[in-house]
Formats: sequence, C-alpha cells, structure tokens
Amino acid sequence: MLRVLLRGLASAATPNRTFQDVVVIGGGPAGLSILTALNSSPKTQHLQTTLVEGGSLEPIRNFSVSPPEEYTNRVVSLTPKSVEFMNSVMGSWQFMNQDRIKFYNEIIAYDGQDSQTRIEFDGSTVNAGFMAVMAENINIQASLLDRLDQLAEEGVEFHIRDNTKVQSIEHGNEELDWPIIKLDDGSEIQTRLLIGADGYNSPARHYAQIQSRGWMYNRWGVVATVKMQFEDVRAVGWQRFLTTGPLAILPLTEDNATIVWSSTPELSNILIKCDPEIFPLLVTAAMRLEEVDLNYVYKLLEKDPSSKEAVKELNWRLSRINEQDVEYPAPVVDVVPKSRAKFPLKMSHADSYVAPRVALVGDAAHTIHPLAGQGLNMGQSDVAALIEALEAATTRGLDIGSTLALEPYMSNAWPANHALLGICDKLHKVFSSDFGPLVAVRGLGMRSLNWIPGVKDLMVKAISGR
Ligand SMILES: Cc1cc2nc3c(=O)[nH]c(=O)nc-3n(C[C@H](O)[C@H](O)[C@H](O)COP(=O)(O)OP(=O)(O)OC[C@H]3O[C@@H](n4cnc5c(N)ncnc54)[C@H](O)[C@@H]3O)c2cc1C
Ligand SMILES: *[C@@H]1O[C@H](CO)[C@@H](O)[C@H](O)[C@H]1NC(C)=O
Ligand SMILES: *[C@@H]1O[C@H](CO)[C@@H](O)[C@H](O)[C@H]1NC(C)=O
Ligand SMILES: *[C@@H]1O[C@H](CO)[C@@H](O)[C@H](O)[C@H]1NC(C)=O
Repeated sequence: MLRVLLRGLASAATPNRTFQDVVVIGGGPAGLSILTALNSSPKTQHLQTTLVEGGSLEPIRNFSVSPPEEYTNRVVSLTPKSVEFMNSVMGSWQFMNQDRIKFYNEIIAYDGQDSQTRIEFDGSTVNAGFMAVMAENINIQASLLDRLDQLAEEGVEFHIRDNTKVQSIEHGNEELDWPIIKLDDGSEIQTRLLIGADGYNSPARHYAQIQSRGWMYNRWGVVATVKMQFEDVRAVGWQRFLTTGPLAILPLTEDNATIVWSSTPELSNILIKCDPEIFPLLVTAAMRLEEVDLNYVYKLLEKDPSSKEAVKELNWRLSRINEQDVEYPAPVVDVVPKSRAKFPLKMSHADSYVAPRVALVGDAAHTIHPLAGQGLNMGQSDVAALIEALEAATTRGLDIGSTLALEPYMSNAWPANHALLGICDKLHKVFSSDFGPLVAVRGLGMRSLNWIPGVKDLMVKAISGR
C-alpha cells in the first residue's frame, strides 16, 4: 500500500524523465568516440543513445568550417593503432583536417646530464610505416562530430545535448535498477547503461563507488605552440630528460611545433610568466645547456620575468655550444601568442572500469604522465574494447548494462593500461629529481640511459604504446 503510494508520488514528481539504452557523460575525445563507435556498428546502432556535455561544442563545430590560423595548444601524438581504429571502426579519420596533422617517424631522446648518450627510435620498422601522428585535440573531436553528422544523414538516431550539466546521478529502485541522471535543465534520463567519459573527476565513477588510486606528481605540464627556425624535413620528435621533468618538442606542419615541458611548480610559473621574447630562447637552451646553467637563468627570471641579464646569459651560453659535435633540434624562434598553458600532472587508475550498469572510459578511468604521449590513445583502446564487448553482448542477447556483458571490457582493457601506467610512472621516477638514489648516481655523471637496465626497452614500449 505504502509502496504503491510512493511509486505514484515518484512518477508524479518526474514528468520530465525519459528512458535510454545508453547515456554517455562527456563530450571530450573519449565520449565522442564511444558515441561514434556505438552508432557506426550495425550491431549497436539500434540502441537509443544520448551524450550529455556540460560545455559548449560550438567551438568544435566551428573548427570544421573555419579552423583558426594557428595551431591550438592541445595537441596529442596518435599511435598507428588509434589511427587504424578511427579509420576502419569509427570511420572518422577521413573527416580529419589533413592539412593540420603531421606524421613523424623518429624520436631522439637524451638525458639532461649527458647530451651525447642518445636513444633513437625509428618508426620505419613499424608495420604501419609511421611511428605516430601529431594532431590537435579539437581536430579529432571535430572529425568525430562530422562523422556523427554523416551517420545522422544516413538515418541513424542519437542525441547530443551540450551546454547541459549532469547535476547528480541516483540509483533506480528495485523495479528498475537503472541509474537516473539529473540534468541542470530540470530533466532526467534513466538509462540501461551509463558510460562515464567524464574526465578525471568523473561523476559516473563516484556514482559507481569505484575507487581510483594514484598520486599527484607535483609537476606541471607546460604546453605551447612554437615556431622553429626552419622546417625539419626529417620530422623528428625530440625529448630531453631534465631533472625537473622531460621537455618534448614535437613537429607540426612547416615550421610549427608543439612543446610539452613537464616542470616543477616554480619552473612552470616562470615558463608561463616570462616574456614572449624570452620563452623561445629558454626552450632552445633547455634542449642544449647544462642544468646548472639553466638553474642559474631560472633564478634570474624568477625575480624578473623580463630579465635582460637572463637573455644575455642564455645567448652567451648558447653561442658556446658546438652544434657540429651533437645534433639538436632547430632553435625555437617564436611562441604563438596565448598558446602557453599548464596542467597538473597526475597518475591515477580506477580499481575497475565497470560496475552494474556503469562503464568508464578515458581519463575517467586513468590519467598518465604525458612523457610518452599515451593519455588519449589509452582512451581510444578503451573505446575499442568496450564496443567489442557491447557488440558481443547484443549478439548474444544479453542486457548491455549487466556485469556479464561489461566484464570482457574490463578484462581486455585494464591489464594493458595498468602495465603502461607503471612503465610511464617508472620512467618519470628514473629521470626526475625526487627519486633519491638515482639522483646520486646521476650526480656522479653516470650515463643513466644506458646504465639503468631496461630503460630503453621501457621507453620503446611506452612511446609506441605496445
Ligand atoms: C600536458 C598534457 C599533454 C598531453 N599529451 C598527450 C599526448 O601527446 N597524447 C595523448 O594521447 N594524450 C595526451 N594527453 C592526455 C589527453 O589530453 C587526455 O587523455 C584526453 O584529453 C582525455 O579525454 P577524455 O575525453 O577522457 O576526457 P576529457 O577531455 O577530460 O573530457 C571529459 C568531458 O566530460 C565533461 N563533463 C565532466 N563532468 C561533467 C558533468 N557533470 N556534466 C556534463 N559533462 C561533464 C567535461 O566537460 C569534458 O568535456 C595530454 C595531457 C596533458 C595534460
Ligand atoms: C562560431 O561561428 C559562428 C558563425 O561564424 C559565430 O557566430 C560564433 O561566434 C562562433 N562561435 C565560437 C564559439 O567561436
Ligand atoms: C604553420 O606555419 C606556417 C608558416 O609559419 C603558416 O603559414 C601555417 O599557417 C602554419 N600552419 C598552421 C596550421 O597553423
Ligand atoms: C522539463 O525539462 C525542460 C527541459 O528539457 C525544462 O525546461 C522544464 O523546466 C522541465 N520541467 C520540470 C517540471 O522540471
């Protein structure tokens, strides 16, 4: 009697509730990918799906029509495996703005303590014929929206609700145990399966009470779009392991390049604040000079972000480097205005990617140090594994929200991600100054790249994502 009454109240109070097979929270690269994969597959495209994104997707839609003149600062390195997935499973690769991607085939990495000991990776031996391809996040997202438009034209149905924030997620009742997603426009969606592609702070993960373990690195990733003195026709990616963290210069088309400079909180402030004329010089110097000299310059800039003395010091030190002896990347000559930004670096891994009626993909499931450029690629392999599990489940007539249906996703994706997270974490520790015993060894001038067993192996694995 009471239950009947309560049920009556509940339905009277929720005139705005709709029902879906799948709700995806998050319109980042991972969320748009799972939506595209679901609607591209003949086995899953009949499912009623809605994607909810708190922000606006308008800048991404505009990118397809009129991309900005300069490269945006969020750029990632895609592995051949990710490209293959975008091409043959999601059908989105053909919608990438092909003028704004850069294939590269070689990475040269070296230690801050010893520029002459180098590890070179050559991608021409890889099956795909290339090592990786650089692309802007927004280019990837725009290609997915374009592919979704194409699917909609073909009559595939799905809904995208941007500018709509998920306010809370609640449990269903015993009659219908599907999660209820409350949105900030007053409406609700009750869904058979909730896919959390909602980033590091994932509301979906909290709802499912899945623990995430990890730590902050007390490091920031400083990114920027820069201009090199000349185009590198060989298209090499450069990375130098400084004790403050690795600095990478990765090629884009013509003389454009993108940098990711992992640095201490103090150094990241200097890099963001220093004069736009000094920043390029600093990047050039950080690929070449001894760390003691760099530290001296950082001190000057900490006091005065436009220090003339720092410029003089840098130019003088750089003039003494003999570029004949050792090969370095071309000097950086300019930084694109407003392209400097910093992100806190952290490692985290969810204990599980699945719970009853919930699956997590992308940064909601894991975040990784950017030193191997694998974050977004890991999200792509999550989506590949999840779509496979959901296809199998629909073929077998399983409830796609059941743990039975979702379990294969977890067992396929989790162990490989765990291994990669461990490798990148170890590499960070080997090279960064917060790992005591190694600092001592490095201080003695040991050639850490060669001396530390297995480092080269770890790096090859990390960068190629295999
Ligand atoms: C410095 C740096 C360099 C990197 N370099 C690389 C690289 O070279 N290669 C690589 O593969 N990866 C790289 N990454 C990682 C990569 O950028 C991320 O892994 C990727 O962007 C994560 O995508 P995602 O879709 O999982 O999450 P996100 O991009 O975080 O998307 C989550 C979305 O969910 C939405 N959302 C969250 N909560 C709600 C809510 N309550 N309601 C509605 N919507 C919500 C958010 O608005 C957001 O749009 C790098 C990262 C950093 C920090
Ligand atoms: C997108 O493009 C439209 C039309 O050109 C413009 O009016 C709008 O301001 C743009 N929006 C953003 C966020 O750039
Ligand atoms: C790259 O640099 C060149 C020359 O500096 C410029 O003309 C071009 O537009 C840039 N490409 C992009 C996509 O920004
Ligand atoms: C129902 O949802 C719409 C938006 O979808 C909103 O405008 C309206 O206020 C909601 N009504 C109630 C009663 O919450």
